[in-house]
Amino acid sequence: MDQLEEIKNKIDIVEFINSFVPLKKAGRNFKGLCPFHSEKTPSFMVSPERQIWHCFGGCNDGGDIFKFLMKIENIDFGEAVKELAKRAGVKLAQYQLSEGEKNKQILYEINHLAAEYYHYLLINHSTGAKALNYILGRGINKNSLELFKIGFAPNSWRSLENYLVNKKGYRIEDLERAGLAIKGPNSGFYDRFRDRLIFPLKDQRGNICGFAGRILQNNPQEAKYINTPETFIYHKSDLLFGLSEAKDEIKKKDQAIFVEGELDMISSFQAGVKNVLAIKGTALTENQIKLISRFTQKIILALDQDLAGDAAARRGIEIAGNEGLMVRVAKLQGGKDPDEIAQKNPSDWREIIKKAEPVYDYLLDSAFARFNGETIEDKRKISNEIVPILAKISNEIVLNHYVRELASRLQVNEEAVTKEINKTKNNQSSPSIGKAIFSDINIDKEKSHREVLEEYLLSLAFQSGQWEILKKKKIISLIQTHRFSKILEILGDYFKNYTIINSEKLAKMIGSELVETFNKFYLFDLGDLMEDGVKFEEEIKKTIARLEKINLVEKLTKISGTIKLLEKEEKLSPENQKKTEELNNEFRDLTSKLSSFEEK
Ligand code: CTP
Ligand code: MN
Repeated sequence: MDQLEEIKNKIDIVEFINSFVPLKKAGRNFKGLCPFHSEKTPSFMVSPERQIWHCFGGCNDGGDIFKFLMKIENIDFGEAVKELAKRAGVKLAQYQLSEGEKNKQILYEINHLAAEYYHYLLINHSTGAKALNYILGRGINKNSLELFKIGFAPNSWRSLENYLVNKKGYRIEDLERAGLAIKGPNSGFYDRFRDRLIFPLKDQRGNICGFAGRILQNNPQEAKYINTPETFIYHKSDLLFGLSEAKDEIKKKDQAIFVEGELDMISSFQAGVKNVLAIKGTALTENQIKLISRFTQKIILALDQDLAGDAAARRGIEIAGNEGLMVRVAKLQGGKDPDEIAQKNPSDWREIIKKAEPVYDYLLDSAFARFNGETIEDKRKISNEIVPILAKISNEIVLNHYVRELASRLQVNEEAVTKEINKTKNNQSSPSIGKAIFSDINIDKEKSHREVLEEYLLSLAFQSGQWEILKKKKIISLIQTHRFSKILEILGDYFKNYTIINSEKLAKMIGSELVETFNKFYLFDLGDLMEDGVKFEEEIKKTIARLEKINLVEKLTKISGTIKLLEKEEKLSPENQKKTEELNNEFRDLTSKLSSFEEK
């Protein structure tokens, strides 16, 4: 058995995937919301039997655990193999890293060592004393300093370089690529982070991608924070500070709280509100939203409430809304930021989170705060902003609630608000360009009715193990989609040698081009059909009957076409005359068969 198989055998795919997306039992399979696109009804299936997954929704993609990890963590095959081998306790023999992987590997190593170095200086060395004083003075405890590996970069041009290049033997060019060293105007390099408190920036698995460095004494001449620039492994817009520490709690609470900065995140975590992440002072990005949506669909924004913060929140709300997340907004009070509030009084902070309001209230408040709503011009501005948002609410009761609210705050009647909303709805229902493109793609992909039925029949047979059905000539002739009949052909060969199906063996015979199609037979969502023997038998019969009917109709169409062609000829040769007669007879037979179907 090769090592990949060994890893696959040691990891239960259902348990593994369930740690990323909650799965529910669905017949012999498990299903859940696809982590790779946003959807409201689950179309993501996992088969414990075949140890595979597939999304039948937007992605229409699937594979094994390796493919899943590659996709969800955006890593390449080698990295996925390594991570899963570790998890499975399989020692990999001479596995060759690709050039790109080696490059990344070195940067992670360098970052890891740099973090250890900075952390050591903060905790144990006299150069770190004033920084340690500062951070302890801000109420961050030793536990948190450890957990977040907070450190101190000394006030020196080359201390990190000395450590990593002279002592550890790394190349200065690699330090530069990690963003830790900067090339000077002459030939030398110098350390990027000097005399700063250091926060390692980790990805969700805890790999250190970069750093943020905060000055110890606010000074208008200098940036309060400097951050690692974009590198091979650090992409500012993809990172959520604290995710590796907070992710378990986020899944448990099914909710994530977004705060502005590192210290807000750490203080909240320390105060016991652990499902918290920092966006590092920038506006929420689409990638950050996609990242969090793998862990939860519910987020709370607890961001600055100044004008810039409000604009950022509104943009965040829009992006999160587009991804189908549920957003609430917390009102910060009792301190200037979550850091201060959580440090002063953890229970206040918990209360603020609990009271976070639905996004519509927030947007209403925000609009009325910016335009006060008394002049006609203000009323128009407010309604222009709010009406399109309300028009998207599908629940009538919720909608009515906000229609009332808006009407009363604008001091107009509800009818006017409703009319405006309906106008917007009518305009929104015309397909946008994006939608048009999307539906075009879908038409291309759309399967014929026949193909869907064939796939369904095969799924019924494969998942129930009723192979006898698939040996029948009649059934084999019913299946006409090329990919499916190919698989049935191979199945026929398989049965020449074996009597019981071993799906692993069969998959090997089927080969890589068709295995995806084959896997789907195992993944097709049959709900609890399998548990009800009678219903199951009926379903098989019904499906066969439907396929027979489709075959009949197709035959009829063909025949009537031929008859019409023949009849177009001015004078029929005796031969063609005979043919027409035969065809007409066949047509009659098929029609009566068809009508007997319809009676059933
Ligand atoms: N930030 C940044 N660059 C800056 C300023 C801020 O990247 N020049 C980011 C940091 O991630 C910071 C967050 O924005 O944590 C919030 O900024 P701020 O609240 O000013 O930082 P704090 O360290 O919390 O400042 P204070 O001590 O005043 O609360
Ligand atoms: Mn702060």
